[in-house]
Amino acid sequence: MPTIVTIAAKKGGVGKTTTALHLAQYLGNRGPTLLLDADEELRSAMDWFEGHDGYRGWTFSAAPYHELTQNEQLADGMTYLVLDTRGGEDREALVQLAQQSRLLIIPCKPEGVSSKGLIRTLEPLIEHGVQNYRVLITDVPSAPSMDGLNLKYALKEQGIPVFETMIRRAAAVGKAADEGVAIRDVKGDRYAKLIGMDYDLFGQEVLSHVQ
Ligand SMILES: Nc1ncnc2c1ncn2[C@@H]1O[C@H](COP(=O)(O)OP(=O)(O)OP(=O)(O)O)[C@@H](O)[C@H]1O
Ligand SMILES: [Mg+2]
Repeated sequence: MPTIVTIAAKKGGVGKTTTALHLAQYLGNRGPTLLLDADEELRSAMDWFEGHDGYRGWTFSAAPYHELTQNEQLADGMTYLVLDTRGGEDREALVQLAQQSRLLIIPCKPEGVSSKGLIRTLEPLIEHGVQNYRVLITDVPSAPSMDGLNLKYALKEQGIPVFETMIRRAAAVGKAADEGVAIRDVKGDRYAKLIGMDYDLFGQEVLSHVQ
């Protein structure tokens, strides 16, 4: 059975798709990995994956989620499945997603609205005694802003599991999505490699939690 890692959050635009692609990229270097795009209307992950003519940098394969429900053999031989969700799932759906996964990753940007969305995401998980989730802080503004660290320590103080690695803010993320390439392969942007490294460190942490 493949190890299933799901990326979900009640709030939209918090970095789910960016995280799903780059986690799949990291895991794809370690074992056969399939990224499933459950956001069938927007197809953001599929668009990014298919985006750039001739780009051969991806280390994983990708498919819309419904293709797996139609053909379970799609997951045959996979070591990892990474599920990019639509966002805005209701309480029961969030609990179910966690129960179906080895790890549920909840991205959150360090700004007020996202943090409120985070509380709404966490409530049903905590109520149901779900333990296999962890928050990833994304789009972290650079120093002198302390927003990322402040959120990390606030979560820790409340006993909420949070990844040590935070994903820094960089325009390379948007460029990578536009170009349909992995962030580290964005040309002419010196921050691209740094954000690629953030996602590698995060991938290492994910592995330590699913093994
Ligand atoms: N580290 C980052 N630095 C800069 N911008 C970022 C970063 N992470 C995400 N973003 C931007 O935030 C926006 C939302 O990112 P993304 O699409 O990954 O989130 P999402 O949670 O999947 O959104 P949706 O709810 O629409 O599916 C995008 O414009 C993306 O470029
Ligand atoms: Mg998305």
